[in-house]
Amino acid sequence: KKLVGLIGYPVSHSMSPEMQNAAFQKSGLPFFYEKYEVHPDRLEEAVNDLRTKGFAGWNVTIPHKQAIMPFLDEISEGARKIGAVNTVVNEHGKLVGYNTDGAGFVKGLMRHVHFPIEHANVLIIGAGGASRAVAYALAQAGPKSIVITNRTMEKARDIHNECLRKQDSVMGLEEAEASLSVFQIVINTTSIGMKNDGSTPMDLSLLVPGTVLSDIIYNPFKTVFLQEGEERGAVIDNGVAMLVLQGALAFEKWTGVQPDVELMEKIVLEKLG
Ligand code: ATR
Repeated sequence: KKLVGLIGYPVSHSMSPEMQNAAFQKSGLPFFYEKYEVHPDRLEEAVNDLRTKGFAGWNVTIPHKQAIMPFLDEISEGARKIGAVNTVVNEHGKLVGYNTDGAGFVKGLMRHVHFPIEHANVLIIGAGGASRAVAYALAQAGPKSIVITNRTMEKARDIHNECLRKQDSVMGLEEAEASLSVFQIVINTTSIGMKNDGSTPMDLSLLVPGTVLSDIIYNPFKTVFLQEGEERGAVIDNGVAMLVLQGALAFEKWTGVQPDVELMEKIVLEKLG
């Protein structure tokens, strides 16, 4: 069997093994996916171990997405701009780092966008690691404009400079709330909503019905942000598609074959209850 897997700390919560193994089986591919808890002090050792054992590749999660980069042989342009690797591919002995998080997110988002993306003004809330992946991949998709807002403006400016384009910009949170009607797509990439304590990343009073409202969080399944948006007539999209499609893109890189995405999604939805 060809081996793939996930390294992170912790990894116990991960749904990737079941999602990926079901898809390998469905495609009749001799691959097996296993998760490995790797302490940050042992990351280099673990990479060398996976290399020696001939792994076809692996996923990388918190806290190793940045730290792993020096131990790989090559980093794709996207992963370099995003500053994080979530997928490693063993290309004939050369370990190449990619990032499929952003592209996975955009693929999922596009299921809900039934107008030309070139016409869309997009608002991204948040400027952490997830935001960086989303911003980079979204810019590749070519919307009319991307505006990024965050509590800490400095971090939003960095993402603008490193991942976005000339026509894109940075905006304060209050101004973004007041300008909400100009955006056809609004995306939460912050962790606000994960604790399910009623807090939301932004006031949605001025949201226009029909706006695509996306949250990268999938647990809770429907954040307060998405609930409020839905009440105002938004088309809502949670983080399940990003989780499934980043995995599907990794699967494709390892095998050269497209997985059964519906099956992968079904497994994730079952596990989330
Ligand atoms: P990730 O890698 O998952 O994106 P992160 O790098 O810690 O995580 O980023 C978290 C994001 O959520 C940031 O945009 C952060 O805002 P700051 O850059 O100002 O820290 C945002 N965030 C988290 N908790 C927040 C809160 N209570 N209020 C406002 N923003 C918050």
